[in-house]
Amino acid sequence: MHSATDTFTLANGNTIPCIGFGTWQAKGDAGRAAVLAALKAGYRHIDTAAAYGNEPEVGAAIAESGIPREQIFLTTKLWNKQRGYESALAACDESLQRLGTDYLDLFLIHWPANAKQFPDSCEEINQATWRAMEKILADGKARAIGVSNFHPHHLEVIAQTATVTPMVNQIEFNPGFTQPNVVTYCQNRNILVQAWSPLGSGRLLNDANLAVIAGHYGKSVAQLCIRFALQRGILPIPKSVTPARITANLNVFDFEITKADMTTIDDLPVFGNSGHHPDDIGF
Ligand SMILES: NC(=O)c1ccc[n+]([C@@H]2O[C@H](COP(=O)([O-])OP(=O)(O)OC[C@H]3O[C@@H](n4cnc5c(N)ncnc54)[C@H](OP(=O)(O)O)[C@@H]3O)[C@@H](O)[C@H]2O)c1
Repeated sequence: MHSATDTFTLANGNTIPCIGFGTWQAKGDAGRAAVLAALKAGYRHIDTAAAYGNEPEVGAAIAESGIPREQIFLTTKLWNKQRGYESALAACDESLQRLGTDYLDLFLIHWPANAKQFPDSCEEINQATWRAMEKILADGKARAIGVSNFHPHHLEVIAQTATVTPMVNQIEFNPGFTQPNVVTYCQNRNILVQAWSPLGSGRLLNDANLAVIAGHYGKSVAQLCIRFALQRGILPIPKSVTPARITANLNVFDFEITKADMTTIDDLPVFGNSGHHPDDIGF
């Protein structure tokens, strides 16, 4: 990888730019301006979700950028209240409308239904929702489909009835919270792992251990965290609404974290994660 427009290849052969721009909590005018700044800085991969409440602004920024739609990789996600076959189909249409586009590059199920909320039906719900994703793919409304926050046992359940394997699993991944069991499971099955909160939503950025390691390369902790994901074969999607940070977060292709430093980062204790576990969430 030499730039943010270098790509990973998904299981269906489609390519995906190796750094995405995260947009959670980037709403309204600030969200539109951030996406526009990201496109100007060189990002060609934007990550949003119905739940972020910013699909209209993301779509507006893409239109305003003047960059042809086909040069931008656009992801959105199905929110938890719209799981199930018919409901997921409708949700996709609603996202397309809000984004002002007639196709998604990637559509993800945001979180699996869990047994805590749906003790008798979570497995059927996840299977039915995945059937809708397959229909959305077949209809050309999304060019790739995947999941988010799925652990191996959730993936095993949808595999029982799936005809298409998820192409992506977007999970929380950052120094101290590397979820090796999920990553290994996915990478062994050609499911691309994406890293959400690659900077721990900002919680990692003042960490003294990471600052020392970043200093080995003359880089910021944010750049170290982004590079750490890439060197694990994982696609990071850092978010910022600050133009200088938006640009700096792409400047991660002129250094390589040594094996020893990668191991040190791998061995850090858990300290900056969100605490959301897919089997525990109540939203
Ligand atoms: N699938 C899921 O369930 C899920 C969950 C959470 C997030 N996501 C996705 O992942 C994306 C990234 O995660 P995230 O938004 O939680 O957090 P993140 O990218 O880990 O961190 C963003 C925070 O770090 C700050 N920041 C960014 N670059 C910086 C830099 N170079 N120097 C100093 N501070 C910097 C930002 O501040 P400013 O914005 O103020 O500059 C913001 O507070 C989201 O936006 C969303 O697209 C997905």
